[in-house]
Amino acid sequence: MTDRQDLIEAAREIQTEAHVPYSEYRVGAAIETEDGEVYTGCNIENANYSNSLHAEEVAIGKAIADGHRDFSRIVVSSSRRDGVTPCGMCRQTLAEFCGEEFPVFCDADGEVEAYTLGELLPAAISEETLE
Ligand code: THU
Ligand code: ZN
Repeated sequence: MTDRQDLIEAAREIQTEAHVPYSEYRVGAAIETEDGEVYTGCNIENANYSNSLHAEEVAIGKAIADGHRDFSRIVVSSSRRDGVTPCGMCRQTLAEFCGEEFPVFCDADGEVEAYTLGELLPAAISEETLE
């Protein structure tokens, strides 16, 4: 298992790759797979604003495309270290693959806020919802 501090550093480092000419708000995410691999993502903005990719989507998308489906935790960090939390859309994206106990760590200045996905998104829509 990756050291949590390594995961935090990975989420901070990947912010250097963020493409943020519009908001200038860099976000980085580092998600750990159950088998201990780490995938990172940054936000990638678009002149059409709504096409922007969020750091969490990019991180989990890279992992999914590599064949992973099981995840143990995620760290999200912004360049302002303001304790950014995943937006509603990203919470739902995580809920597709991660359960209510899935830990979500948000990098705030000085300390890291720990949440579970269930706290951030109670009553998520899921495959069962559609049955
Ligand atoms: N952002 C993320 O990358 N993840 C989130 O879940 C919250 C928002 C990005 C999108 C946009 O590029 C910038 O932060 C400001 O909203
Ligand atoms: Zn988001």
